Amino acid sequence: MPWGAKQDASRSKDKYDDIQVASKERAQSRTQGPPKDEQEEPRPHYLPTPPIPTKAQQCPPRLMTFFGISVLGLSTYCGYLYTSYTRQVAASRALEIDPDVSDRYNDSATRFDAEIELDEKLMRLGAKRASLIALARGDVLEVSCGTGRNIPYYELGMRRGIDEKGRATVKGCRSVTFTDLSAPMVEVAKKKFAALHPGAENVVFRVRDAKEVEVDIPGLKPSRGGTGSEGVHEGVTPGSYYDTVVQTMGLCSMPDPVGTLRHLGEITEPEHGRILLLEHGRSYYGWLNTMLDNLATAHANRYGCWWNRDIGAIVKESGLEIVEEKRYHFGTTWWLVLRPKKTGQGLSS
Ligand SMILES: C[S@@+](CC[C@H](N)C(=O)[O-])C[C@H]1O[C@@H](n2cnc3c(N)ncnc32)[C@H](O)[C@@H]1O
Repeated sequence: MPWGAKQDASRSKDKYDDIQVASKERAQSRTQGPPKDEQEEPRPHYLPTPPIPTKAQQCPPRLMTFFGISVLGLSTYCGYLYTSYTRQVAASRALEIDPDVSDRYNDSATRFDAEIELDEKLMRLGAKRASLIALARGDVLEVSCGTGRNIPYYELGMRRGIDEKGRATVKGCRSVTFTDLSAPMVEVAKKKFAALHPGAENVVFRVRDAKEVEVDIPGLKPSRGGTGSEGVHEGVTPGSYYDTVVQTMGLCSMPDPVGTLRHLGEITEPEHGRILLLEHGRSYYGWLNTMLDNLATAHANRYGCWWNRDIGAIVKESGLEIVEEKRYHFGTTWWLVLRPKKTGQGLSS
């Protein structure tokens, strides 16, 4: 072999050996870590060992992306809500309307039930209506009855029973008079009742202003000394008072809620009679009241209801006495049992 060729062969063998050594070192460092002389000094015992991230702490990129998109979406939605709220507040404040908005129900009567059905379900108002109407007995007047959303909860037909203190009492309704200012609302209620209680007696429907409604009890025959509610309250002329007056979600809609409650107190049997209310109005919380106030005019204009009224203050001003009070939904829903104010001696609860 010529000298040049020998040299070439020896050079390429050296190169081959170098490659072999380098790849062996790489394999060794993969399995055993860096060569001894390059290895780190052992950590002095007085230094704390850095924490090893747990699986939960190692946030995968996909989760980070999802989290980022969610935060972005939520903040965009909050921004949208805030902008639309401030726009509605400005529009509401700019509105000038007559404070008596009770005429709105003439237009909304046929769609009223459909419009509030979902809200009432979410707020479980059916149960609150049921527990209130269960207290109705004797000759009953419901004012502002609307489309008759309380109709399913009445126990029709009066019977004698025992109260919670073991005393003889009257249970169930001998008669029910449903009234509302809006004739179209009364019409819807009447149809609802006919479908639920065909052939029921001593139930009438009237178009009346709650502030002026008179005692007009169906089925009473005073000429024969009174039949119906005879014996419900000793010493009380049958037909002179209602035993129970009901109103649900009505104080928000009428122009004179205090005057109306006073009138209802006057036509309720003074000793044992009760006024049952389920109303909505101001909350316990200032921030919520501010929102109700800010949007009140627009809401009243559209739905015929002032949702920021102070129900507690209205009741207090009316002079009626509170027998029982419960509040729900941040204090905006008021469940109340009232009685006429005691005026003389000898009236017991
Ligand atoms: C929000 S709706 C409530 C209807 C029903 N009580 C209920 O719980 O679903 C208010 C009702 O009050 C009636 N209303 C308003 N002002 C009234 C008044 N001065 N006398 C009697 N009813 C009145 C309206 O016509 C309407 O039907």
